[in-house]
Amino acid sequence: MTQFILSIDQGTTSSRAILFTLDGTIHASSQQEFPQHFPASGWVEHDPEDIWRTVREACDEVMQRGCGDNDEVVAVGISNQRETTVLWDRATNEVVYPAIVWQDRRTADWCETLKKQHLEPLVSSKTGLLIDPYFSATKIRWVLDNVPGARERAEKGELAFGTIDSFLLWRLTGGKAHRTDATNASRTMLFNIHKQEWDQELLELFGIPDSLLPEVMDSAADFGQIEGHGRLDGISVLGVAGDQQAALFGQTCFKNGMAKSTYGTGCFLIMNTGDKPLVSEHRLLTTVAYRLKGKPTYALEGSIFIAGAAIQWLRDGLQLISNASETEPLAEGTSVDHGVYLVPAFTGLGAPYWDPNARGAIFGLTRDTGIKEIVTAGLQSVCYQTKDLQKAMEKDGLRPITLRVDGGMVANNWVLQFLADILGAPVDRPRMVETTALGAAYLAGLQAGVYESLDTLQEAWQCDRRFEPQMSKQKRDELYAGWYAAVAKLQSGPL
Ligand code: G3P
Repeated sequence: MTQFILSIDQGTTSSRAILFTLDGTIHASSQQEFPQHFPASGWVEHDPEDIWRTVREACDEVMQRGCGDNDEVVAVGISNQRETTVLWDRATNEVVYPAIVWQDRRTADWCETLKKQHLEPLVSSKTGLLIDPYFSATKIRWVLDNVPGARERAEKGELAFGTIDSFLLWRLTGGKAHRTDATNASRTMLFNIHKQEWDQELLELFGIPDSLLPEVMDSAADFGQIEGHGRLDGISVLGVAGDQQAALFGQTCFKNGMAKSTYGTGCFLIMNTGDKPLVSEHRLLTTVAYRLKGKPTYALEGSIFIAGAAIQWLRDGLQLISNASETEPLAEGTSVDHGVYLVPAFTGLGAPYWDPNARGAIFGLTRDTGIKEIVTAGLQSVCYQTKDLQKAMEKDGLRPITLRVDGGMVANNWVLQFLADILGAPVDRPRMVETTALGAAYLAGLQAGVYESLDTLQEAWQCDRRFEPQMSKQKRDELYAGWYAAVAKLQSGPL
């Protein structure tokens, strides 16, 4: 008999299920993509039924392929795309509107109004966030104001709100558990990260009835038992975290100053700051890294909205490549100072600029610019954006003691070498790059008593390769100055 932890990783473009053996090795995995909807400029939606269907299919497939009749799943962990907002009817389970995705900018004008009313210091002091359409609060308000009858139903207590973890928990437990964890709560702009509770003043400010909200739990906790899902029935969900925090946990960045950067749809650099919620003076976010036994560990986060999505756009939108793996040889055959800068501000700019109205552009085109320069510029844009975050951290007087990387793009050695070069700092790629799913499995395993302590987990982390910076400081500064100038041209709004 083999024991497993089942980890569900519900991301922006696909849902995955991975069976981990208790030593953290992948035994079987399944991935299901689902459609993205762009109903208007700057709007991004998912059909929550697609999310639910793909999660179920991925779980069914992985159980069928990997879990024999005598094997046992001891616990389930969930990691999820954060901030994405769903409201549903508690009685019928039906969603009242599509999921409004974290990238969606429809509430930009309202956020601008709130900022003009000088409310950002109040919101930041409580939530650690900046006022931006990225977070859930203004998305919830949009649904209440725009879906006929939604506000009345919410006020009567008929509706529930959840980020994707809550929505999945609700469905997995047959409507018994309306819960979330502190990491996901900390991305709503309604959660007081100091008091670790929903903030009444913010709920009033955003016009959101508190009857909508889930109960906030530790990241390793008893979230509820699965019901009505065949072989998963009776198994408890014991770990939940937003995907970026789950990756930090999977990278075992448990010490103050350890950081990870994940290159998925977007890029999220998170540095553990221990039990202190540090406040950035340079527009980084303060967030909950994880909460164990009632004790929050905090982090500083830089959020970039487009990273891997830029490569997806080069492939599907421009059709310059047919597979992401083609980018590495193309970049290898191109000099780093080709002069082209691609700024992928497709859904505005995140940290440290926070400009929801900026839109993407390519600068520096000449008659001899070809596919390889544009593709290389796409790869470089991801590294330059990470440099923006490093700079902001440095201005705050912080420098990570280690930077561990993960996510789909880190298979590309050229990207990681250029990243180390442009950062002027080493970059570590772990052997196990599925750190998001691993983090959720670790949380569930901790609660199940499979793992004794964080120290036990830390010992399991193994480096696959360290990329050391090789570029001269002069070249690095020159290249980055070009990027900085390109971004500055976009910041006044759409071209
Ligand atoms: O904050 C958004 C983030 O959680 C999305 O992550 O991996 O789906 O791009 P990912």
